[in-house]
Amino acid sequence: MNPFEYQRPLDPTLLIDRRAELDALQRAAADRVAVRLASPRRFGKTTLLGAHLAAMRAAGHHAALVDLDRVATVVDVLDRIAEGLRQLPGVGPGAIAARLARIGLTVGPAGVQVQLAPRGARATPSPDDARAAIRDLLRLPADLASDGDLVVVAFDEFQDLLTADERLDGLLRSVIQHQGDRVAYLFAGSSPSMMRTLFGDRERPFFGQARPVELPPLPLEETTREVLARMPAPEDPRTADATARIVQAAGGHPQRTMLLAFHLHELLRDEEPTDDLAAAAWARALREVDDVCAALWSTLSRPERAVCSAVADGLAATSTTAAEQHQISRSTLQSTTERLVADGQLLRRGERRRVELLDPLFAAWLRDR
Ligand SMILES: Nc1ncnc2c1ncn2[C@@H]1O[C@H](COP(=O)(O)OP(=O)(O)OP(=O)(O)O)[C@@H](O)[C@H]1O
Ligand SMILES: [Mg+2]
Repeated sequence: MNPFEYQRPLDPTLLIDRRAELDALQRAAADRVAVRLASPRRFGKTTLLGAHLAAMRAAGHHAALVDLDRVATVVDVLDRIAEGLRQLPGVGPGAIAARLARIGLTVGPAGVQVQLAPRGARATPSPDDARAAIRDLLRLPADLASDGDLVVVAFDEFQDLLTADERLDGLLRSVIQHQGDRVAYLFAGSSPSMMRTLFGDRERPFFGQARPVELPPLPLEETTREVLARMPAPEDPRTADATARIVQAAGGHPQRTMLLAFHLHELLRDEEPTDDLAAAAWARALREVDDVCAALWSTLSRPERAVCSAVADGLAATSTTAAEQHQISRSTLQSTTERLVADGQLLRRGERRRVELLDPLFAAWLRDR
């Protein structure tokens, strides 16, 4: 078995680092302070939430994860909330069904539905019914906490709530705010700019309502050590050298680190000897993400392409050279850079706050183009 998982959230026991973040989440939960966790895609949000909720459960508290990934309608949101809250001990499908039955809804394999006749057809609830049901279900965690228990409820991909309905954050807030200090809420999202809108815009209900926690890149030294320990024959100097090089090249990007480590592990188990292991692992990883990079490229605007290409080449994105080369004004390049940073495509790093592409493989893909 290759021990490097790069497609799914990691098992809490396999986490590298993230101690400071887990501490921050645990402290906030103990104080019943809401937290918002914003990070770029694939930086380990779901993994961190999983580890946090597992730690909470191990300490005897109640914890539930509501996954709002790509919800498109209010009914989707209702389904996901029902699914998430079912994880709370003492709630289970029975309690959810009982709550929904009060407002004429049933819950089954097809999600939450309206029963049209005693034994007859079922239909999708109307948005208004779904909103009423959401309001009702969201009271469950606080009811459970009324005997002094700590209940933690985490929402993943929280920004997708607004895709389903522009005003759902208002509804959530209106229920949650009356739960005082009984439930600890956590809102994680992978669109940093959307998360900023939800929590940083005075006009929005959640303005200033949650303590920010960020997910930085993984620390290189510790990551190298942990990755090496999971390689076959870690004592071999060639393995150590190749591991150090791929971890360095991944620049602390969690998913990219694991993807590269996966391919290095495969190469090390190959019968065929490879000369330059790190380069070969890099080439395999790059081939694997080729179509994803092409798809991303096709969604970028002309100024965004100019900025990303310049940054990939190690140039200052807003230099006169870049402006001339691409025939785009420096002010446009500047505002585009800021937007890409806000959106998590670009990252500022080091003392000089140099702009880099978040994804080192996309940077290499751009250079190879
Ligand atoms: N702490 C960590 N240690 C090692 N690898 C990690 C860590 N966190 C994340 N990863 C790697 O990154 C991958 C993506 O993690 P995860 O799914 O938790 O990220 P995410 O931010 O929720 O992603 P998405 O934006 O796709 O929802 C994992 O499969 C794993 O390879
Ligand atoms: Mg996730």
